[in-house]
Amino acid sequence: MIKIAPSMLSADFSAFAEDAARVARAGADFLHMDIMDGHFVPNISFGPAVMKSLLGKTDLPFDVHLMIENADRILPEFVTAQTEYIVVHQEACVQLGRTLDLIRSLGAKPGVALNPATPVSALDCVLADIDLVLIMTVNPGYSGQKFRPAGIEKVRRLAELRRERGLPFRIEVDGGVGLGNARALAEAGTDIFVTGSALFGAPDAGEWMRAFRKAAE
Ligand code: DX5
Ligand code: ZN
Repeated sequence: MIKIAPSMLSADFSAFAEDAARVARAGADFLHMDIMDGHFVPNISFGPAVMKSLLGKTDLPFDVHLMIENADRILPEFVTAQTEYIVVHQEACVQLGRTLDLIRSLGAKPGVALNPATPVSALDCVLADIDLVLIMTVNPGYSGQKFRPAGIEKVRRLAELRRERGLPFRIEVDGGVGLGNARALAEAGTDIFVTGSALFGAPDAGEWMRAFRKAAE
């Protein structure tokens, strides 16, 4: 069963909680939180206080995607009763193992994201220590960008490594995900699909998610 994680970056910020409740009712599995610092990525989104305003508004677990430098300093603020994954970028963490240990010590599941230009081999030494790999299929910073199909091959390679090594990590994709690439991504081995503009732009979120699951499964 695939999972769908709506990106709250594409929600209406003036109706943030209502939009979260709406996608939860429509059948979402996670709320994906895109946290941007204006340094690692060119955009600034929202911080822990805004994320925490969604606590208790739905019972969906939070999937927190940190597109920030110096993640160790602020990441404890994102560990809440509803936080399941804390995902950091390989490119932004100088001592990745230390950051992953910190996330686990706080009681969240550690994940690592890879930009489109970073090969899967960059995670070779940490695959056994993580619960999730996030393959970016756009350069992070904005929603509504065009899907980069090279990510499909990276998902396939990861799924192969997971089989070979008997590891339990989940594979997530993020960026330009929609009905047109659901099937190829699912076949390659994707477990969790982040979706921003395609889902929030659909007239009926429930219908869109049903169509997406059908296309993927
Ligand atoms: C990009 C973010 C994504 C993005 C998804 O930096 O990490 O989560 O907002 O939006 P779409 O699905 O519109 O690409
Ligand atoms: Zn994201």
